[in-house]
Amino acid sequence: MEGPNAGRNPYMTTNDAQADADSPDCETFPAVSVEKLVKKYEGRIVLDEVTFSIRRGEFVVIHGKSGCGKTTLLNIIGGLDRPTSGDVLIHGESTVRMTEDQLAKLRSDKVGFVFQDYNLLNDLTIKENIELPRRFSGKPVARSADALLEMFSISSIRDELPRKISGGEAQRAAIARAMMNEPEIILADEPTGNLDADNTRKVIEAFRLIQKEFGTTVILATHDLDLSKYSTSRISLESGKACLSTVQHN
Ligand SMILES: Nc1ncnc2c1ncn2[C@@H]1O[C@H](COP(=O)(O)OP(=O)(O)O)[C@@H](O)[C@H]1O
Ligand SMILES: [Mg+2]
Repeated sequence: MEGPNAGRNPYMTTNDAQADADSPDCETFPAVSVEKLVKKYEGRIVLDEVTFSIRRGEFVVIHGKSGCGKTTLLNIIGGLDRPTSGDVLIHGESTVRMTEDQLAKLRSDKVGFVFQDYNLLNDLTIKENIELPRRFSGKPVARSADALLEMFSISSIRDELPRKISGGEAQRAAIARAMMNEPEIILADEPTGNLDADNTRKVIEAFRLIQKEFGTTVILATHDLDLSKYSTSRISLESGKACLSTVQHN
């Protein structure tokens, strides 16, 4: 894999039991607040004082052309990358001064990741892939892998290896895996980038189901403006600046 995700494992975690101890009451805070976020690579500004806030349970599309900074922004929100300056608050808790261990715990407990290339492990069956996050987290969960397979209409492929299934099935399996720990926030980076129109629709339906059934906040980055019609809000990224707008549905 190239780019900002290279070599990072979002499911890596530690036994840092201290991280949650003094968390603020998350009910009263937005899911995500980004405040004057700046990211520079070798002096070049990619994100230029980006500020917005996302309420809990929203389905937000981050839209912009290739290279505008969507992946950089998602990775900073999810604690896979650090900003040059500014702040990110997840349910009121600032992440920018967290230690690597605290960030790993945040990723493991509160955030689910979905990538364009699915990132399923080739040697594990679909069911084993979906169960993977549970191996790294002691968090009790209400739903079994079988219930998630059923929910996303992929029960028939539970014992297959990833190479035997279609892209649309693989992405729904990746979404099921991301939901295994019932994260409060799902970050999806171009999740439909490799899919045809029919599978794009099925994957978007899976995200809408998550939003409805679990109340999860879904943040989906895409270059495809058409996908914002499924969202509650859109954040447009251009020249390092972000603009938040509410999507009107007829
Ligand atoms: N690790 C990195 N080192 C240097 N430049 C990077 C790195 N990651 C991303 N960039 C640059 O930052 C800009 C935004 O990249 P990215 O966040 O991947 O955009 P998008 O996801 O919208 O296509 C691009 O110009 C890209 O080349
Ligand atoms: Mg990207």
